[in-house]
Amino acid sequence: MTHSRTASATDLSALIQALPKAELHLHLEGSFEPELMFRLAQRNNITLSYDSVEALKAAYQFNNLQEFLDLYYQGMNVLQTRQDYYDLTRAYLDKVHSQNVRHVEIFWDPQGHLERGIDFATQIGGILQALKEARSQNGISYRLIMSFLRHLSEESAFETLELAKPYLDEIYGVGLDSSEMGHPPEKFERVFEACRELGLKITAHAGEEGPADYVWQALDLLQVDRVDHGNRSLEDDALIERLRDSQMVLTVCPLSNLKLQVVKDLGNHPIPTMLKAGLKATINSDDPAYFGGYMNENLIQLQQAVGLSADDIITLTRNSIEGSWAEEARKKELLAELDRVVAEFN
Ligand code: ADE
Ligand code: ZN
Repeated sequence: MTHSRTASATDLSALIQALPKAELHLHLEGSFEPELMFRLAQRNNITLSYDSVEALKAAYQFNNLQEFLDLYYQGMNVLQTRQDYYDLTRAYLDKVHSQNVRHVEIFWDPQGHLERGIDFATQIGGILQALKEARSQNGISYRLIMSFLRHLSEESAFETLELAKPYLDEIYGVGLDSSEMGHPPEKFERVFEACRELGLKITAHAGEEGPADYVWQALDLLQVDRVDHGNRSLEDDALIERLRDSQMVLTVCPLSNLKLQVVKDLGNHPIPTMLKAGLKATINSDDPAYFGGYMNENLIQLQQAVGLSADDIITLTRNSIEGSWAEEARKKELLAELDRVVAEFN
């Protein structure tokens, strides 16, 4: 598609806002804004290690994934009651509703809560209540994804899967997150096989900090339906070909990559290279409360840094809808709406 005029940055920001969007890579616990964290800490009589919202925000400077994860696990300790899980989920959904995100696929880390004594029912009960309310009130469709913490054992993942079994009609897929280096996908081959046999969709973080070999393992051993991040796939030509030929979806997170120093400068972000290579890349926020932006800020800041065109933005948005795990009828509806917005923009 060609455009009759060159779009200004203002036009492109308006386009980004107007497009119906899907978010495929969002950690619920990473949407925990400091203001809400302080409010829930007070409600639960918990003392945080930081005196104020400002002091906490000032600590959000990370040299790598692990430095972020240390604060992320500390932050989630505040979550105690079903109401807390509801409030956290609802706050994220209200925020993205204002950005015209129409479908969300949300990760949460049950093990990060179970190990603090919060039972599975409390967690998932509050999360689902908010998801169902936002679906009926705001028309946001959703899929919930249970993520295993890769720094823990495979046995712990199997135990978590057992706890999830009564809720499998509400859990659409499973993921793999936390400290990547030293915890390759192969460590979890058997538990993901069990998940596949239960009919769950599969995704895994791979190639964020870890090497291209971890992406190969995610594909060949875990048999993923998509790859979270996947940045380092670009170091391996045979892998690029594999990802392109299979049109494997990559859930890429630009502001996360910047804040965790996966890229040193947003101007060097790999998205343009991925698009040129024909990879099915999507844009997502990962942990927006920690990385400085939700869906639209990711798209706008990336656009400005690398000079994405209107066609690039439309392709990325279309990829997210097509690559989502939404029902086919829902995908069609969102794609038709996207086509209407594009026609108006041209
Ligand atoms: N948990 C939350 N965000 C994560 C990320 N970007 N990588 C790995 N684990 C995570
Ligand atoms: Zn992530």
